[in-house]
Amino acid sequence: MDPYCDDREMRITYSRPCRALARTLVLASCYLGVAHPPLSAQGRDTTKLGQAYFKEFHSAPRDTISQTAYLGWKQFELNCSRCHGEYGVGTSFAPALVVSLKHGGTIPNEQTFIQTVCAGRPEKGMPSWCALGLEIPKMQAIYAYLKGRADGKIGIGRPAVRPDSAGGKT
Ligand code: HEC
Repeated sequence: MDPYCDDREMRITYSRPCRALARTLVLASCYLGVAHPPLSAQGRDTTKLGQAYFKEFHSAPRDTISQTAYLGWKQFELNCSRCHGEYGVGTSFAPALVVSLKHGGTIPNEQTFIQTVCAGRPEKGMPSWCALGLEIPKMQAIYAYLKGRADGKIGIGRPAVRPDSAGGKT
C-alpha cells in the first residue's frame, strides 16, 4: 500500500482536530496522484540533467555477445555485481573477477570457477551459490561472460545479444 495514501499513518501523528484536515490533504494528494498521466505518457525530462540520466540508464549496448554470455551478464549483474562490481571490475569488498580469470590468474579455468562459486568461501564473505540455489548452467554462463571480459573480448557496459550466436560462448 502506498504509505502516502494510507491515513493510518496520520492517526498516529496528529491529534483529533487535525485529523479531518490531514485526511482531506491526504485524500487530495491521492486524487492528484491519480490525475497524473502514467509515467510512460509523460514527456521526457528535457533538462540537461534529465537527459544525462536518460543517457546513462538507456545507453546503447556496446558489444554484441553470444546468448550464453548475455545470460551470464544478466545473472552476474543480478547476483554478483553488488560485491564484485559492475562488469566484474571489483570493489573494496570483493576481488575484480576480470583479473582473477585472466591467463595466469587465481581462477585458471571453468572447473575451478564453478567449484569456487558453488562452495563459496562463507567465512570470507563469499556466499555458497549452490546452497543459495543458483543452477550450474547459470554459473557456466557467468563464466562465459567474465572470461570474455578477462580476455578483453567484452568491454564494460550493457551488451546486446548477437543474433546468430546461439551455440558460441563469447
Ligand atoms: C556478498 C558479497 C559477494 C557476492 C554477492 C558474491 N561474491 Fe564472490 N567473493 C566475495 C568475496 C569477499 C570474495 C573473496 C573471498 C576471499 O577473500 O577469498 C569472493 C571471491 C570470489 C571468487 C574467487 C576469486 C579469486 O580470485 O579467488 C569468485 C570466482 C567469485 N567470488 C565469484 C562470484 C560469483 C560468480 C558471484 C555471483 C554468483 C559472487 N562471487 C557473488 C564476495 C561476494
